[in-house]
Amino acid sequence: MSEQVIDQVGDYYDDIGELVELVGGNLHVGYWDSDADQTPFLEAMHRLTHEVGSRLALRRGERVLDVGCGVGEPAVRLAQRYGVSVTGITVSRWQVAEANRRVVSAGLRGRVTVEYADAAEQPFPDDTFDAALVFDALPSAEDKPRWLREVHRVLRPGGRLVFTEYPRVADLTDDERGVLAMNTIHTPPAALDDSVDLARATGFEVVAAEDLTRQVRRTYDEFFVALADQRDALAAEYGEERIAMFTTGITAMFSLCRDKIGYHVLTCVVPD
Ligand SMILES: C[S@@+](CC[C@H](N)C(=O)[O-])C[C@H]1O[C@@H](n2cnc3c(N)ncnc32)[C@H](O)[C@@H]1O
Repeated sequence: MSEQVIDQVGDYYDDIGELVELVGGNLHVGYWDSDADQTPFLEAMHRLTHEVGSRLALRRGERVLDVGCGVGEPAVRLAQRYGVSVTGITVSRWQVAEANRRVVSAGLRGRVTVEYADAAEQPFPDDTFDAALVFDALPSAEDKPRWLREVHRVLRPGGRLVFTEYPRVADLTDDERGVLAMNTIHTPPAALDDSVDLARATGFEVVAAEDLTRQVRRTYDEFFVALADQRDALAAEYGEERIAMFTTGITAMFSLCRDKIGYHVLTCVVPD
């Protein structure tokens, strides 16, 4: 990825910084079975991490790569639930420091590590990992095939990959594309088949391609409730100006996502 784009993405996540606490460190959407499902917001986000984990069919002792790992919340949960070791990469230096702090406080030092690295040029030898997740991170890629080719290279034959995508489910205006770009999302696919084709073109066999738009949709309304509840406390801690800017930006982005962005989950394998 070009240095400029890496810096933009890194700055974006550095700027959000401590505000990840608003969503318990989960920089991904939540999962509800149905409209009747009463699962609270935080739990719904953890549940999606476990949905990803179950699709990866992780076994104790396996080596897992988390591409675009945020502050390591999914990595820590997967390590705890499945007994795997996880290496996370991100281009936010703030996230690297925060993720490693979380790893230590979870007692997982040595089992989970997070480092600064570009998904498009990964610092790992071929065949290093048994499984990989690209969890709500591929939408930020400037060159999606390159990210997936790198994941394919560092996975062993038979290695599994789960990646998620934010497709557009309605036409986007230029202004709306601008809002997405400000939030590091550049090329939302139009259809599930686009991601299936991407996975196949980069050497993966596609095991399952799922449209979970309905199951994640509630995320945005739940986020607005959480933000309203915590806004005053956040402003007191981090300053009114920072929270006002964050609120304006994220409200534009998540209102748009609620109306026009869906959710796809692809489960893939590297052919033996
Ligand atoms: C929406 S967050 C998702 C974080 C995490 N997967 C989670 O579910 O909480 C996107 C992540 O992708 C990372 N990212 C974006 N571009 C990247 C790149 N070129 N290389 C590595 N990580 C990248 C960001 O730094 C951020 O950590």
